[in-house]
Amino acid sequence: MNIEKISQELLARARQLDNPRQILRAPELKKLYQVLPTLPEAERAEFGKKINGLRGELEKLIQVLGAASEDAAVEPLDVTAPCGVNQPLPQIMTADHGSRHPLMTEMERVIQVYNLMGFRAVESRQLDDDYHMFSSLNFPVGHPARDGYDTFQTEEGFIPPAHTSTMQNRILREGKKELEAGGQIAAVSYGRVFRNEDLDATHEHTFYQCEGVFVSRDATLGQMLAVLREFFETYYGQKLKIKTQPAYFPFTEPSLEFLIEKPASLGGGGWLEMLGCGMIHPNVLRAADIDPAKYRGFAWGGGIDRLVMLRYGIDDVRHFESGKLRFLKEFR
Ligand code: DAH
Repeated sequence: MNIEKISQELLARARQLDNPRQILRAPELKKLYQVLPTLPEAERAEFGKKINGLRGELEKLIQVLGAASEDAAVEPLDVTAPCGVNQPLPQIMTADHGSRHPLMTEMERVIQVYNLMGFRAVESRQLDDDYHMFSSLNFPVGHPARDGYDTFQTEEGFIPPAHTSTMQNRILREGKKELEAGGQIAAVSYGRVFRNEDLDATHEHTFYQCEGVFVSRDATLGQMLAVLREFFETYYGQKLKIKTQPAYFPFTEPSLEFLIEKPASLGGGGWLEMLGCGMIHPNVLRAADIDPAKYRGFAWGGGIDRLVMLRYGIDDVRHFESGKLRFLKEFR
């Protein structure tokens, strides 16, 4: 049997086929495999090698032909064609099919207000660890306050953060040099957070927070209240009454809740709890290698969703993650 000849024939035939892979079912090829065991032992190995070689060549050809037909299906782009600057751009998907999510627009607005006040902004991580979620924030292992955060956990033990406070240790560490050079640490962290909670009009498993950190030689609660008032009055574009009430967080001492008077756009009257805040606990500074005997700081953190709901009179936090176009279109 002349394998070379069969080989030439099969390769030529494969080129003619719509589906070149069919050549692997050619009777000639099958025949070769049938002949193999009938050969005298001395010839068998040599013959077997040749069949395998032929099969390998066919496979290679099939691949080349397949790739070429895929390429042919795509209309080639003429990169040397003159560019018509006055031609309209091709509409792959028109702008009417999408719009900015209101939370992203508002998040930018929030960051802009803080930037103007001298705070740099860092995005928080969406997957973090126990150290940043708890330990670095003065929640020792087994601390009961850990349970209050309804955290999710991956099988590997990572934590999708339940608050943006996970960034505090990183911000403090990064800012240490600046602090020791006589400067201050002034940063906000913002981003998506997750809690394994029962859902209702004011609770969502996925939401957004913004957190602030300020450290200097002589930071005070009074400065913190001034920063927060300035932020809320700028964001809502009106003068606001503020007040605080005592709270508990392991990472601040003292800890406070910060409230604003209901904005006039919402009918006014009554108080709204906007965020948690306080003087940074000495243990949190120590965890970032900052000496609490030399430096003091304040921190605050709260939900963006709630802030936006109040601004626009949105009645249910679940709208944000619902993907409902009717809701999203209202913010175009
Ligand atoms: N991380 C807290 C929470 O999600 C909010 C908070 C309270 C942040 C006090 C702070 C703070 O930075 O000082 O419930």
